[in-house]
Amino acid sequence: MSQCPFGHDRSTLPGDSTPTQPSPRFSQWRQDGALAPLSYRDGHEGLIVTRYDEARAVLTDPRFSQQPQRMPRSDAPIEEGVPAGPLDEEGVLADRSAGVLGLDGPQHLRLRRAVTRRFSVRSARTYRPRIAEIVAEQLDVMIAAGPGADLLALYAEPISIRVHALVLGVPDHLLERYAQDYVHGAPRQQQHDLLREAVAYRGENPGDDVISDLLGNDDLSDAEVEGLLHMLSMSGRDTVAYMISTGTVALLDEPEQYHLLAQDPERVPAAVEEIVRFCTMFLTVFPRTATESVTVGDRIVEAGTTVSVSTVSANRDERRFGDADVLDVLRDARGHLAFGDGLHGCVGQQLARVELDEAFRALVTRLPGLRLVSTGLRQPSPLAHPVATYAARPVIVGW
Ligand code: HEM
Repeated sequence: MSQCPFGHDRSTLPGDSTPTQPSPRFSQWRQDGALAPLSYRDGHEGLIVTRYDEARAVLTDPRFSQQPQRMPRSDAPIEEGVPAGPLDEEGVLADRSAGVLGLDGPQHLRLRRAVTRRFSVRSARTYRPRIAEIVAEQLDVMIAAGPGADLLALYAEPISIRVHALVLGVPDHLLERYAQDYVHGAPRQQQHDLLREAVAYRGENPGDDVISDLLGNDDLSDAEVEGLLHMLSMSGRDTVAYMISTGTVALLDEPEQYHLLAQDPERVPAAVEEIVRFCTMFLTVFPRTATESVTVGDRIVEAGTTVSVSTVSANRDERRFGDADVLDVLRDARGHLAFGDGLHGCVGQQLARVELDEAFRALVTRLPGLRLVSTGLRQPSPLAHPVATYAARPVIVGW
């Protein structure tokens, strides 16, 4: 915290968090109140919500708009990425028309509904057998590499990109390029060109997948189809990879937690809820703006105020989760906010749950003696994205 010229405390997001150990600033904020002042990148002041009840109240209140999106300032450097580069007119229109996280009301609902069926509980269940096969194949690859393998590069990332491609309907012959462009990053034009190839292919060869669903939806323009596919390719994939790799570190940091799952893999689905609570990736979700004066907790948030909800902090709130800083795979962690909540809550959460369930189940079953050799996750994490999410880091394991 530093002094601003007007005499207020000027707060930025702390830069000393690691994915398993949030900055002590968050617990200090929670002690002081549910909301605290926060500086935004463009220099204006808003609020950060740090307690669970108030976080949930803001996320589920439609009086908070997703626009305009003004990202909070952070002391942590943002991850260096591939420069976005120029994008042709169709691509710009596509991104503009389908950025669901920046839309409200009927406009948002219409686009969200175009994809929700494919990500329902029932649909996620039908993908389970294929996901289990992908997980088993990637575990074979990691085991073949031998102790000292990087679980992020050989297991977590390939699972997340392969499942993403499967559900979206990216054809096999484009998989390698899709992985390259969306995992390692590529100029935006290259990403959009690749999606156009996938769309053209599915136009000729329809399948049981998101692209085919969107192409069969007469209500959507070509730009919206491309935009939705780009948005889906950008969301969820890195979060699944982060969660598998960081969750493994959290479990191996407390080996008895890992052993509890190895002894009884039927505990894994409930443990997944605890792992995503404990390793929550979003320091803050996308900022909201109050469209009218709203009471949050014991405070009035004036119309026009920018509000950032910290899901990391809310999920460590002792008022909601006893011993919140302890990973306890036997606790009932349901109700956590790791997937957000309300109208913008995570579309892909049921699919993510199946991926995480299969990934942790395979690890504890086939490698009950897994141990952590080293990980980059001990360093305060640079942020992966302006929206303030942690970045995944190598996780070197032995067995
Ligand atoms: C462990 C994995 C995942 C985590 C932790 C996660 C987390 C989140 C969070 C916190 C939000 C809400 C952001 C906000 O309210 O500002 C969100 C939204 C979203 N997620 Fe996920 N996500 C995961 C996996 C996925 C997957 C697999 C997909 C599917 C492609 C996906 C697609 C989306 C989309 C499209 C939204 C925007 C929803 C809207 O604005 O209506 N996510 N996610």
